[in-house]
Amino acid sequence: MDIFSAHDVDRVGPAWQPVLAAQLREHGLANFAGTTDRAALITVARQFMTIRTHRDAAPDGVTEITDLGTAAAGYAAFTDSELIPHTDGSSMPDPPGLLLLTCIQPAAHGGATLVADGAAIAATLAAHYPAALRSLSAPKAAFFGAADGYLGAVFAPAGPGRMRIRLRLDDLVRFSADAAAAIPSLRTAISRHLKTLRLGPGDSVLLSNTRWLHGRSPFDGHRMVLRVLGDPLPAARVLPGFLVPDAPAQRSTGHPEDGTAADLTRQIA
Ligand SMILES: [Fe+2]
Repeated sequence: MDIFSAHDVDRVGPAWQPVLAAQLREHGLANFAGTTDRAALITVARQFMTIRTHRDAAPDGVTEITDLGTAAAGYAAFTDSELIPHTDGSSMPDPPGLLLLTCIQPAAHGGATLVADGAAIAATLAAHYPAALRSLSAPKAAFFGAADGYLGAVFAPAGPGRMRIRLRLDDLVRFSADAAAAIPSLRTAISRHLKTLRLGPGDSVLLSNTRWLHGRSPFDGHRMVLRVLGDPLPAARVLPGFLVPDAPAQRSTGHPEDGTAADLTRQIA
């Protein structure tokens, strides 16, 4: 199933909000067109999330992602450089649950949005690199951020039968020896599942920040993307993370409270 074409949500349809929420619950990602300015972006965001403020955001919660020529660590978003797929807010104890990106001005060349499904990454690791998945799931696998960052796992439990991903691969992360040895396998798994979204003016992507990694390719010229971070509204019923790979819950009932899946979560943790 190609969620990047067949499931594009038609915002002119009467039921686009429930359709988008259902797509978020199932796939953790939805893309749609027709958000052409900041006010429209906020209107859309408030229908799915409680907006979080952010270091780089304006008081309305919107961050303008554009090339400011910034060279400081942690500000790579504000350059024209590549952004390695990552989790936003990885140095926070509880990263935002949802990320909404809207393209206002695509770059003349490059600047595609890159996304990779943590569920698919974890499944590949479980199938082909199980030792790497165990190392990356250790409670002290990585320290994310600067001095006031977060010590935790790349793959962590996220409720019964579920796990979540937390990742950055830039200068602001340090891994344990075991986790560092697992990074080449992790990069291989990410590459295998990397998707390219070429967002035009008004195109948006709304994704689960605890399931999907996001990044971008380098670009030339002016590019402007607006970002809003937040936590899903209870009515959206978007659970954090994704089902533990190869859990019996996936093969049988799919019910997230399956006891054996919870046991698997504990084993991986
Ligand atoms: Fe980001």
